[in-house]
Amino acid sequence: MNQQVTVTNHPLIQHKLAILRDKNTSSKDFRDLVREISMLMCYEATRDLPLEEVEVETPVAVAKAKVISGKKLAFVPILRAGIGMVDGMLALLPSARVGHIGMYRDPDTHMPVEYYCKLPADVHERDVILLDPMLATGGSAIDAINQIKKRKPHSIKFIGIIGAPEGLEALTKAHPDVQIYLAALDEKLNEHAYIVPGLGDAGDRIFGTK
Ligand code: PRP
Ligand code: URA
Repeated sequence: MNQQVTVTNHPLIQHKLAILRDKNTSSKDFRDLVREISMLMCYEATRDLPLEEVEVETPVAVAKAKVISGKKLAFVPILRAGIGMVDGMLALLPSARVGHIGMYRDPDTHMPVEYYCKLPADVHERDVILLDPMLATGGSAIDAINQIKKRKPHSIKFIGIIGAPEGLEALTKAHPDVQIYLAALDEKLNEHAYIVPGLGDAGDRIFGTK
């Protein structure tokens, strides 16, 4: 697999993903699982955060310890489904800022249509993590990254939950500088550009709109 892409095989993530895929999983459980998987993916995607040494006084002695060295992060969910991933990310990195990019896929062309973009004012000083559970054709992620790149952040990573080979290929080709983290790489897209086997429409399942 391309160095740019990490597909996590951690048992906790795989177990939660199995329940997430199940069509009988309720919206409440679906939301909880998306949050939990996002937290675990955040752990994986932040392995390279720089540390600095500090001294702390324990009740016994002074210890040399390490803390994250002032890294400024921004999480950017693609609306709607990316919203479901934000809480899990913030649980681990509460000082990150949050931007939003609104996009939906045109039902006929499957091309993304952008309807909203609000990024932190200082995004040019930040490392951005783009969030969207589904990487299908890759169009939404590619366009969102195009928007974010106009603001010149330090770096961009993408965290998804399920990807299709077609979307992964398109995204790595369009943005070879973006590290990609997925919990699973599925088989293919169907004629409606849905991921097979996938989990259906992530936005609808999170928000109970179908
Ligand atoms: C879904 C999903 C991604 C996009 C992925 O959103 O959350 O944003 O499709 O597909 P792509 O890789 O082919 O672009 P959708 O367009 O259904 O909008 P919604 O979240 O508002 O329902
Ligand atoms: N968007 C989704 O929510 N699911 C898919 O399978 C493809 C795009």
